[in-house]
Amino acid sequence: MDRIGILTGGGDAPGLNAVIRAVVKTAAGVYGIDVTGIRDGFEGLVRPDGVFQLTPDKVRGILPRGGTILGAANRGNPFAIRTVVDSEVQIVDASDQVQKHIEDLGLDALIVVGGDGTLRISLELFEKGCPIIGVPKTIDNDISGTEITFGFDTAVSMATEAIDRLHTTAEAHHRVMVLELMGRDAGFIALQAGVSGGADVILIPEIPFSYPSIARKIRERAEEGRTFSIIAAAEGAYPAGEQQVYQDGESASQQSRLGGIGAEVAEEISRLCGVEARVTVLGYLQRGGSPTCFDRWLATRYGAAAVRLANQHRFGRMVCLQGGVVGDISLAEALAEPKRVGLHGESILTARGLGICLGD
Ligand code: F6P
Repeated sequence: MDRIGILTGGGDAPGLNAVIRAVVKTAAGVYGIDVTGIRDGFEGLVRPDGVFQLTPDKVRGILPRGGTILGAANRGNPFAIRTVVDSEVQIVDASDQVQKHIEDLGLDALIVVGGDGTLRISLELFEKGCPIIGVPKTIDNDISGTEITFGFDTAVSMATEAIDRLHTTAEAHHRVMVLELMGRDAGFIALQAGVSGGADVILIPEIPFSYPSIARKIRERAEEGRTFSIIAAAEGAYPAGEQQVYQDGESASQQSRLGGIGAEVAEEISRLCGVEARVTVLGYLQRGGSPTCFDRWLATRYGAAAVRLANQHRFGRMVCLQGGVVGDISLAEALAEPKRVGLHGESILTARGLGICLGD
């Protein structure tokens, strides 16, 4: 093993730089392996200027920094690259070119740090014969092969702080405050931040909700003299029998962005309960900024473990956390099913036991 490549794909998440740093330091310090950085996800493997040498001095000082020094892209699937030929948009399979580029660069292993979409592409590349090692990253925590992805803890901390801050204005103005949170089709951020921040209502995609149920909770609180309420709504939550809400008129597809359910909930609850309701969309604040201590610790362990796997030529594997211990799992197994909030799991039982309305 002489040279490893590393790329960060999909949306950024706090802790990416900690992984890159751990990979470079472990590769150089323990095994004497050189590292090539690939820019902007898989895009760097189809561009002439897409790579550069990553030496230990290039990763100094990046541990507490959010984002990724490599850049990220979530629209660069090498199996379906959009190109314009004779003024017509065509979808081209550039995976052979990517595979050849990996060989030409002399990469004996390619560490891919990404979420569900990026890791699925990685699995396909591995099945083509590329020497891939996966590292799970996403604030959504929706990868089933691992107990937790790095980035999630930072996102939940931000979301919890936002709920704390909304409480004061909600209380002062006797309002219902709706906080819309990220997570795509998984409700982990909303559920964990909602419980940690003391939300009264938590809406997640796994439990389609009913407006009368939320309204009942708000009225019950009012009868008890509680003149404000906090609703934590995952962006993927939706009323039973209806569809998820997408931004700017987008419709459901892999690329479309969820968003807007918070405003709909605020409007409907205001109408049903005759209260003032406001919405806050926390958005990219959940993904930006410095990673928490937990995310730095997890990301560093993942990066070091990925280099160990590469050095053992154990390709097609993904590092993971199981029982609090860093190990590895095949990419195919890790991605077999998406991870979702368990409807009968301990977290949901806890939330219900605390009297939190889950909208059902
Ligand atoms: O997967 C991470 C995530 O932040 C989701 O929670 C959110 O729905 C999505 O990415 C937003 O993606 P984009 O960066 O393309 O707007």
